[in-house]
Amino acid sequence: MLIRYKKSFEKIAMGLLSFMPKERELKKLQQTMHIYEENPGWQLYLWKKGDDFVGLLGVEVEEGFFTVHHVSVNPSHRGEGIGHAMVEKIQQIMQGREMRATKDTEPFLKKCPEKKAEL
Ligand SMILES: CC(C)(COP(=O)(O)OP(=O)(O)OC[C@H]1O[C@@H](n2cnc3c(N)ncnc32)[C@H](O)[C@@H]1OP(=O)(O)O)[C@@H](O)C(=O)NCCC(=O)NCCS
Repeated sequence: MLIRYKKSFEKIAMGLLSFMPKERELKKLQQTMHIYEENPGWQLYLWKKGDDFVGLLGVEVEEGFFTVHHVSVNPSHRGEGIGHAMVEKIQQIMQGREMRATKDTEPFLKKCPEKKAEL
């Protein structure tokens, strides 16, 4: 289940975000969290499995498209299809906007089946 981030999820979100190669340093991590908290166009989502948050997906939403800046899954739950499930779900939530990747998220997003916009 993909759930929109709120402040009470901050610690678990930072933990999941830190699995992104460029987010390992605390200072960078805090800056990134600040971007998501301050900009309405930047949206963070968490994947809940049972009682635990095990995945994170962060997007920047713009007119007609959205960019996936962050995607990560707790190492104990990798290879279970959670990454793919989060990408599929965000495409539904974004309602037909084109999905774009960054250099950091492209390798995984390329593996996810493209859901073309149904305009
Ligand atoms: C990338 C990541 C989110 C995938 O999550 P996941 O829940 O394990 O993914 P799924 O179970 O849905 O899919 C597994 C598939 O993705 C592939 N995959 C995993 N990491 C990948 C990566 N960095 N680049 C490309 N493919 C990747 C696996 O090899 C596997 O492929 P297969 O089905 O052909 O065997 C997870 O490995 C992770 O958190 N990595 C660290 C953070 C990161 O580097 N994010 C950016 C990735 S570009």
